[in-house]
Amino acid sequence: MADGLEEIYINFQKELGQIKDLKSLNDFEIKYLGRKGELTKILRNLSKLSIEERKVQGVKANDLKIKMEEIISEKKNELQADAYKDIEKTEKIDITIPSKERIGHVHPISKIRMELEEVFRSMGFMILDGPELESDFYNFEALNIPEHHPARDAQDTFYIEDDPEWLLRTHTSPVQVRAMQKYGAPLRAIVPGRVFRNEATDASHEHTFYQIEGLLIDEDISIANLIAVMKELLQGIFKRDVEVRLRPGYFPFVEPGFEMDIKCLICGGKGCSVCKHTGWVELLPCGLVHPKVLEYGGIDSRKYNGFAFGLGLNRLVMMNYGIDDIRYFMSGDLRFLEQF
Ligand code: FA5
Repeated sequence: MADGLEEIYINFQKELGQIKDLKSLNDFEIKYLGRKGELTKILRNLSKLSIEERKVQGVKANDLKIKMEEIISEKKNELQADAYKDIEKTEKIDITIPSKERIGHVHPISKIRMELEEVFRSMGFMILDGPELESDFYNFEALNIPEHHPARDAQDTFYIEDDPEWLLRTHTSPVQVRAMQKYGAPLRAIVPGRVFRNEATDASHEHTFYQIEGLLIDEDISIANLIAVMKELLQGIFKRDVEVRLRPGYFPFVEPGFEMDIKCLICGGKGCSVCKHTGWVELLPCGLVHPKVLEYGGIDSRKYNGFAFGLGLNRLVMMNYGIDDIRYFMSGDLRFLEQF
């Protein structure tokens, strides 16, 4: 048996030296490690041995299998790198040559995002970025949402397999605390970004969508300041009068918290699938930053306060253009995209 393994390994080494391309490496891998491969045969036959022998030979055969897999994987990387070098030598791609078929253009979400960035830049806000793969700490804990808090259930979360400390951020709010820690107070920033939620999709819900977080921290900030900035934001985008309503909203990281809804521009408030037949679309949750969040951000909550908001960008774009299903955005359907 042991001889069998040694022989396989000797042949394996010999043949490996002759492999010069990925296709032959693939055949080689199948020959040794495939379902009917040389080593697999030995592993299968282990069951015919006595328990003692099986233990010894099993470990040896498995070690060899791992070793062979590693060698093959290394060889694969080498050959892949060589193949890329060849491509580099023989192919030249000039990405500046315009396509004959279609001229690409900016996606409607990016277009409105850029317009909003301009509105906020003119008000002295920084444009910040944050990680999409986020820690439980920034996504929840530092936003005053401790473990087992019911607010966690409101945002169905994609956790990283085998590691509940890491997740795909469910909102752009984690960047609030990151920004506070980095820049301190006073602070004005917006954070456009992609967020993820493990939820079923429908006309107004996606699993992957965009938000723009806004954060302003200074001395003596009031709800009047918050409303003034929200109005500026909506006017900057819609460039026409839109009806909004403010109602109390609960988010552990603001106090008091509000929901700003916009009268549905798809149906004019009559009721449709986008507004769930209520005539209003939830667009802009906001509120005054909770002192605990300021403390997590290292800011003295006795001296400073501020407001924050979390705009649902996809829904804003839907209202602006009269798009009646959120799923068009990621469909990649050119008939949809070419209208913008
Ligand atoms: C939040 O995500 C809070 N972080 C917002 C916030 C920030 C509150 C700062 C206070 C201060 P909410 O889960 O409601 O809240 O989502 C915010 C917005 O994102 C919603 O109003 C909606 O416009 C949009 N949104 C939420 N879920 C989806 C979804 N599945 N698909 C598309 N848009 C969504």
